Amino acid sequence: MEGNSSDSAPQTKSDKQDPSSIPSAVLDYLQPNYWDQRFSSEDNYEWLKDYSHFEHLLREHVKATHSVLEIGCGSSHLCEGLYRDGITDITCTDLSKVAVEKLQKWVESMGYHGIKVVEADMLDLPFGDGCYDFVIEKGTMDLLFVDSGDPWDPHPATVSKVMATLRGVHRVLKTDGIFVSISFGQGKRTSKSNGIKIVAPSICLLQEELEGEDYIFRTNFDENK
Ligand SMILES: C[S@@+](CC[C@H](N)C(=O)[O-])C[C@H]1O[C@@H](n2cnc3c(N)ncnc32)[C@H](O)[C@@H]1O
Repeated sequence: MEGNSSDSAPQTKSDKQDPSSIPSAVLDYLQPNYWDQRFSSEDNYEWLKDYSHFEHLLREHVKATHSVLEIGCGSSHLCEGLYRDGITDITCTDLSKVAVEKLQKWVESMGYHGIKVVEADMLDLPFGDGCYDFVIEKGTMDLLFVDSGDPWDPHPATVSKVMATLRGVHRVLKTDGIFVSISFGQGKRTSKSNGIKIVAPSICLLQEELEGEDYIFRTNFDENK
């Protein structure tokens, strides 16, 4: 197993955001045009943290034989970390055509055979039932909370999008499949909004293993709990 460093990568890894790519209003993050425009000039940017920060946690759950689906890959090279850890059946998806085309070219240039990059909406995943052993997203579902109102009591429209995404993830996962969400968000929430009671699924928070880090790592999704 190798680490996540991409010494042979033709593009520079970046954990610094180009100031010109920061939108004037947070609601711009909900506009597909914003992402297309951003990715037309951005080669690699890692939201939250790059793979090296949580690879030790993922290794406990993802196996070389697993089929992996990444939701909202953007310009992240998370797939590279997984690939170098021996996982070769990886499907990266994003709503942005520009992101998909760019990542596809990069994957090919790196010779990462087995990694597919596909245009897909997380709200309506275009994959069959029970296709994947492992689904992962990093900072993508956070977008759904951009216009959620009170994060402790989100608008019903937000709840419905989050549930559509989670149902889709659950559907494409095999029995005993695993969903990992790396998020700005907070942990287990119970809320009541317009009669809708939201009880988060059974999750395992591994935050304590990430002392000093500012993100949460969740696993073991079960929407029925
Ligand atoms: C905050 S970025 C995270 C990118 C990447 N996961 C990372 O960690 O660097 C959110 C990504 O979600 C994508 N996105 C936005 N809406 C989406 C949707 N409905 N379905 C799939 N991807 C979407 C954007 O194009 C963008 O690439």
